[in-house]
Amino acid sequence: MRTHYCTEVNVDNIGQSVRLCGWVNSRRDHGGVVFIDLRDKGGLVQIVCDPTDNKDAWAVADMVRDEYVLVVEGKVRARGEGLENPNLITGKIEVVADKIIIENRSAPMPFELGDQKVNEEIRLKYRFLELRTKRSYDIFRLRSKAAIAARNALDELGFLEVETPILTKSTPEGARDYLVPSRVHGGEFYALPQSPQLFKQLLMVSGFDRYFQIAKCFRDEDLRADRQPEFTQIDVEMSFCDQEDVIKVAEKLIHDIFKACGFDIPATFKRMTHFDAMEKYGSDKPDMRYDMAMVDVIDIFAKCSNEIFSSIAQDQVHNRIKALRVPNGDNIFSKRQMKGFEDYVRKFGASGLGYFQMKEDGLKGPLAKFFDDEALNEIVTRTQLEVGDVVFFGAGHKKTVLDYMGRFRIFLANEMNIIPKDVFEFLWVVDFPMFEIEDGRVKALHHPFTMPKDLNVKNIEEIESIAYDIVLNGTELGGGSIRIHQEHLQNEVFSLLGIEADEAREKFGFLLDALKFGAPPHGGFALGLDRLIMLMAKTDSIRDVIAFPKTQKAQCIMTMAPSEVAEEQLKELSIRVRKAAAQ
Ligand code: AMO
Repeated sequence: MRTHYCTEVNVDNIGQSVRLCGWVNSRRDHGGVVFIDLRDKGGLVQIVCDPTDNKDAWAVADMVRDEYVLVVEGKVRARGEGLENPNLITGKIEVVADKIIIENRSAPMPFELGDQKVNEEIRLKYRFLELRTKRSYDIFRLRSKAAIAARNALDELGFLEVETPILTKSTPEGARDYLVPSRVHGGEFYALPQSPQLFKQLLMVSGFDRYFQIAKCFRDEDLRADRQPEFTQIDVEMSFCDQEDVIKVAEKLIHDIFKACGFDIPATFKRMTHFDAMEKYGSDKPDMRYDMAMVDVIDIFAKCSNEIFSSIAQDQVHNRIKALRVPNGDNIFSKRQMKGFEDYVRKFGASGLGYFQMKEDGLKGPLAKFFDDEALNEIVTRTQLEVGDVVFFGAGHKKTVLDYMGRFRIFLANEMNIIPKDVFEFLWVVDFPMFEIEDGRVKALHHPFTMPKDLNVKNIEEIESIAYDIVLNGTELGGGSIRIHQEHLQNEVFSLLGIEADEAREKFGFLLDALKFGAPPHGGFALGLDRLIMLMAKTDSIRDVIAFPKTQKAQCIMTMAPSEVAEEQLKELSIRVRKAAAQ
């Protein structure tokens, strides 16, 4: 229907006839002349309808309202002196309408397009309207470019795109499964994949050597700003490789994606061990756009005369005393703010928050009296304090201290507004522990198919794995590992996880069988595509980068899914719904 998209019309077209299609972004009447901003996916162009030029076109223009769908034929002309609009790509020209066809009318908009302050429920109910905004279109263009760049990069590296099943059996990635009832096998259920993890490993046993997939994954877990129940991974697996080979592929892939999207990033990324990440930043996904690393001072506090601190310092295996230096903090923060900081860390289990101020004549503060001069000097040297700085201390059980001091670091960086917004700081976190103990139960930190470095370590929490995460600006963008490719080792790990042989066979028999038949050494990773786009588009909500997202309560407000189904349908599926269970 069109000769040009709206934003393709420019000064080169002056004097030419064009036919444009789009929506009425706005309509203004200036002394009888009607101006329409016509919009399509790329942006706006101004249409002018003067009754003295063309009465018929003007009469139609006079009837149109916002969001009507038009086909406009007209001639391009330069805008008059002083009437150019530098904010529009098409701001130097306008189209004088010869003919306007109304292809469709529109009801009044339920909200003003592009107004982010409108209640999200309304925006999600009419998501197809919100997607009309340029901001949304630009995000989805970025997403499309990223996906195409990923395909091209992986194709170039010899990876084969393979689709794996959606109706499948549970894969343990740590969340609850979404279940789909089987009609043919009444009372039995498929699980939607939490990731294609096991299928991609099987493809390695098949000898495909290099696999990838832009895969939909489903996880029934508590939702956060960067989590959706249904999301997309760029999922990769390769054979006969070590961690270095996988990291090289991931770096090339990420580099190519960013390049295609217009961002220049380094070819390789920094690395940090999981241990250092936790000890210095209290997080397995530290934001490296700013430093503020924590420093260990437990040995210095061991010598102080405060009983609480010195008794915590007795057990340097299970406890930590960490210092967090805030440059110029003494000048920035008031006493009241300092008190507020204590309230903040208490929410995460701290019993208090000590601090020193670095004055001209040395360290001051409520704690100073418990330390001799030598100890105070040691604190100054170790934390590299300068006059005007504040140093905070967290003391207590290791896990709690690392957690609240890590959160406090982020909190302070936000308070002080020191986080640069326009940089991408990538970090590999490597050497993850294989297991963690949660509520007295052994759990796999990545997943149970990850290769342990050495299982013969006494303390199960000290067993390391060949697993790595890629972190971008403090968000976990992806993760992966070298996998177990030998049946006996897989069985050993299942047993350490408390999975009995019968249960392992019932749940993962197909994997154990595959490992019997010449499984090659293999490994891989998955990147969260939605998170990647979120970070590139600099948006705080994952919902902005998913065309039809779910709410925090995992609902689609537009289609009203999930919803009840007809009794007949339930009967076919051999399902009876108990009211209590439905709540
Ligand atoms: P993992 O569980 O770490 O690893 O997931 C990989 C990446 O997927 C993204 N992601 C999510 N994005 C949005 N919403 C969610 N609910 C969500 N959950 C995860 C994150 C995450 O880093 N099979 C392994 C990968 C492997 O070992 O190869 C896996 O799925 O960006």
